[in-house]
Amino acid sequence: MTTVDTLQNKHDHGLDFSAYAYNQNLGWKGSLDDVSFEQTTIKDKLLALEKPCYIVKVAGKIGVTNEGYLYPNENNTTAQVELITSTAPINIQQLGDANFLSFHGVKYAYMTGAMAGGIASEEMVIALGKEKILSSFGAGGLSPERIEAAINRIQLALPHGPYAFNLIHSPNDMAIERRAVDLYLKYQIRTVEASAFLDLTANIVYYRVAGLSLNDANQIEIKNKVIAKVSRREVATKFLQPAPEKFLKELVEQGLITQLQAKLAAKVPMADDITIEADSGGHTDNRPLVCLLPSIIALRDEVQAQYNYEQPIRIGVAGGIATPQSALAAFMMGAAYVMTGSINQSCVESGACKHTKQLLAQAEMADVIMAPAADMFEMGVKLQVLKRGTLFPMRAQKLYEIYRTYDSIDSIPLPEKEKIEKQIFRKTIAEVWEGTATYLSQKNPEKLGKAVNNPKLKMALIFRWYLGLSSRWSSSGEKGREVDYQIWCGPAMGSFNDWVRGSYLSEPNNRRVVDVAHHIMTGAAFLYRIQSLKIQGMQISDYYSQYIPEPSVHFSITEV
Ligand SMILES: Cc1cc2nc3c(=O)[nH]c(=O)nc-3n(C[C@H](O)[C@H](O)[C@H](O)COP(=O)(O)O)c2cc1C
Repeated sequence: MTTVDTLQNKHDHGLDFSAYAYNQNLGWKGSLDDVSFEQTTIKDKLLALEKPCYIVKVAGKIGVTNEGYLYPNENNTTAQVELITSTAPINIQQLGDANFLSFHGVKYAYMTGAMAGGIASEEMVIALGKEKILSSFGAGGLSPERIEAAINRIQLALPHGPYAFNLIHSPNDMAIERRAVDLYLKYQIRTVEASAFLDLTANIVYYRVAGLSLNDANQIEIKNKVIAKVSRREVATKFLQPAPEKFLKELVEQGLITQLQAKLAAKVPMADDITIEADSGGHTDNRPLVCLLPSIIALRDEVQAQYNYEQPIRIGVAGGIATPQSALAAFMMGAAYVMTGSINQSCVESGACKHTKQLLAQAEMADVIMAPAADMFEMGVKLQVLKRGTLFPMRAQKLYEIYRTYDSIDSIPLPEKEKIEKQIFRKTIAEVWEGTATYLSQKNPEKLGKAVNNPKLKMALIFRWYLGLSSRWSSSGEKGREVDYQIWCGPAMGSFNDWVRGSYLSEPNNRRVVDVAHHIMTGAAFLYRIQSLKIQGMQISDYYSQYIPEPSVHFSITEV
């Protein structure tokens, strides 16, 4: 049994208290045997999030317990055990906006973002969905048949959700966007993650408004949920507002939506959730989250004051979320939910090949760089990729510089042309063009016609062959092409690797998306407890602030 005398000579354990104690009228009662005075057992007590934590002082020594109870110490008598402060139990579900959980039927204010070409795979969406965590399938760049197969598989595995599908804006070919919307409506996909939109299109408006109806209580029901991902205020504004009149009129005329739906559309915003994307993997404006989030929250508040929506739009964040600290920071800044991206690509369930996952698991924060994007190559648009272990960024940049400098393939000096053929393409330019022309003659004869008469466009199409294939090589694990893998990745990856170094999650074979989600959220809740104790005046050594992921036996599913 622990007695007061035995506590006098304990060594320093990294806890102290500096502030005026506010708990003057409360005392703690319980057994001293339940109070920890040693680092490791104190940490276990702090980690018991489902229990309260009482910080007490016994014989001049600070200890921590989850047991016992508080009582009103009205006479302010000096007890043998002095209560310094306490924290309530914390449930992971308290982080973020509770409406996000109920609206999407999920257990965490955490979701994973789409990753094109099925990198955010069926396995990923299903694994997370089974644990009631929302995940967006990476439909971008996939054929309608491939998307349809994913829908069938995901709906079979998750008949009651949750899951989302990516609706990616495709400025160069609106038919792609429309085909995705048709599929989503046909199969009653109830949540889309709308991304890359610079402005609204008839397609996204069609998806949203076709899901509006009035229920028996005369309330508007929103069946088709939209989570819009944006990085700019102008675009956020479009999704914060109701659908534009001109699209509604067009859609009614085409018989795609009813007059009633068009009327209801005036009362609801285009999106239920807006994910603010800061410096992320792939397409990014490289904005810092701490600047972007307050600005968009203020914008949302302005729009809410104007439209007075029954359910205000939630603002979530993406870009750099990779650790308990980053998630907690986002929640403390007012984020309704957090979204991860890059880190999931290194997980077992992602559609990337083994070699890519290994490279990602070794990446440091500075191992990323902006490189030319295949889809908007001619416009000079760049996206964030991994640079360590691959020559893709340098080679893509070289191609872009040549494209900028010369007007046609024929005007490229011979030594330069030979370098492209030998080092980058490993084929002759003529062979690449032949393959490209055959492909376009089936898929887009109009473009082929234009390219034949426009040497600069022809050069862009030839270069884009490399940029397009290099992403696929990274997914399929093309042997011999490892140095050309195009791997979208943001600084989040290095940040994650720093956090998990030395833990079981440092090994990519152990990285499961559910574990990652669970540890980020649990760690955020733990750090919240630590920070709240600090704010109350506790001085806590760094040892206690480290949340180290450990393999969990089972993550229970909480009904929502
Ligand atoms: C490999 C990869 C592919 C991506 N593809 C898409 C996509 O097709 N559609 C989309 O909306 N976002 C895409 N993203 C962005 C993610 O959904 C997410 O918003 C972003 O990765 C979050 O930032 P982070 O990388 O810092 O975690 C992609 C990101 C990565 C890393």
